[in-house]
Amino acid sequence: MAVKKERRNFLGMALGGFTALGGVAALGAMKRSWDPLPSVKAAGFTTIDLSGAQENVLNVEKWRGKPIFVLKHSKDMKSSPRDVVVGDDKYFIAIGLCTHLGCIPAYVPGVHEFHCACHGGQFDANGDVLKSPPPSPLVIPPFKVDGTKIVLGEEGPEYKKMKTDGLIA
Ligand code: FES
Repeated sequence: MAVKKERRNFLGMALGGFTALGGVAALGAMKRSWDPLPSVKAAGFTTIDLSGAQENVLNVEKWRGKPIFVLKHSKDMKSSPRDVVVGDDKYFIAIGLCTHLGCIPAYVPGVHEFHCACHGGQFDANGDVLKSPPPSPLVIPPFKVDGTKIVLGEEGPEYKKMKTDGLIA
């Protein structure tokens, strides 16, 4: 009798152990299915190397499906608190969507302005509104300066300061 009872106890413990292991494995599988895929994680950040940028030439990058304007200032462009300083150079960086209804403004290098063809809105080379209907400046995306690169999607100290200074909506 005692042997049977011990055997039953052993079987009960073994079954309990397997059940617990199965539960842990199931939890692990559930967590993996909730975590974003590596490709989704990587899509949140975009690194742009600015070392080859030319003055007054607009580069249009892509971040989270949106166009991003990157414009290296030339010496004759006026400075702005919205300037992004990378090394010895100043850049204008913004989401390239008009703040009126979302068209993509074109850069006119001869006058250092962005012109929106949809309803005639204009912005200066710092993204400030020159001519309505856009209600507000071009939007600066979260960024972090990293040597000669900027990382879009990450809030670095320069971006946080702009936010504190009320330059970011
Ligand atoms: S969408 Fe640019 S002015 Fe209307």
